[in-house]
Amino acid sequence: MSQDIRGKIAYITGGSSGIGKATARQLAKEGVHLGLIARNQEKLENVQKGLENEGISVVTCSADISKHDQVKSAVQTLEQQLGKADILINNAAISDYGNFQDMDEEVWKHIFEVNVFGTYHMLKEVLPHLVSKQKGDIINISSSNGLKATAGSTAYSASKFAIQGMSEALMQEVRRENIRVFTMTPSLVATELAFGDELEEKNEDKFMQPEDIAEYIAAQLKLNQRIFIKQSAQWATNPF
Ligand SMILES: NC(=O)c1ccc[n+]([C@@H]2O[C@H](COP(=O)([O-])OP(=O)(O)OC[C@H]3O[C@@H](n4cnc5c(N)ncnc54)[C@H](OP(=O)(O)O)[C@@H]3O)[C@@H](O)[C@H]2O)c1
Repeated sequence: MSQDIRGKIAYITGGSSGIGKATARQLAKEGVHLGLIARNQEKLENVQKGLENEGISVVTCSADISKHDQVKSAVQTLEQQLGKADILINNAAISDYGNFQDMDEEVWKHIFEVNVFGTYHMLKEVLPHLVSKQKGDIINISSSNGLKATAGSTAYSASKFAIQGMSEALMQEVRRENIRVFTMTPSLVATELAFGDELEEKNEDKFMQPEDIAEYIAAQLKLNQRIFIKQSAQWATNPF
């Protein structure tokens, strides 16, 4: 028997766009209260407005997850205004592409600071919530690039490989406390991160949509507490 997730509290990083926004909408429909984190407050508030009639609580917090002090104070705000998290979705990330030789050190390092240290900061602040409840779910969004790198993505791929390693090790540590760590490795999804300014040209018949990933996330969370999907890959059926 699956579990009811209504009334749970989920913190989602990058909840203002793409997969994070679609997941916020999906979980809202399922009756989950939401704490949304991203840098741009206006975009977060737009998502919040769109959820006004869902009958759940939504708290937004502007923070740059690469900065530990900002994450700390955002998580404190979410805890005070919403409650301790039952679910943490580590979704926010950035990408930048270019040959290794051409990419500035600053750009390379920044991708790591957001994608890897951002996830670390969130885990460091939110894991104690789950441990205190002796139950909870963490969903880490890696990428197909975290399994197989591609030319021009040394920084992004390395950051996603790091997420894989961190997730696997953490999963083995916390499953004894009834905390499930799901790692997802989607291939191309039609979002700003993948399509940039050409997002309008996304082909809905060919490319995975953020809503597809959101539905999968909700389905994973509803699995009976005794089971979780350690790692999963989402692929488009026929993108050719
Ligand atoms: N789209 C794909 O093809 C694809 C494929 C595989 C995996 N993924 C992964 O899926 C996840 C979501 O990506 P997406 O495609 O939905 O991207 P997106 O539409 O660009 O959304 C990224 C989100 O992260 C937030 N964000 C970025 N930097 C941040 C920072 N420093 N601090 C806090 N929030 C930050 C953004 O908001 P602000 O800019 O306002 O901060 C935004 O809400 C990422 O982990 C990505 O690597 C995507």
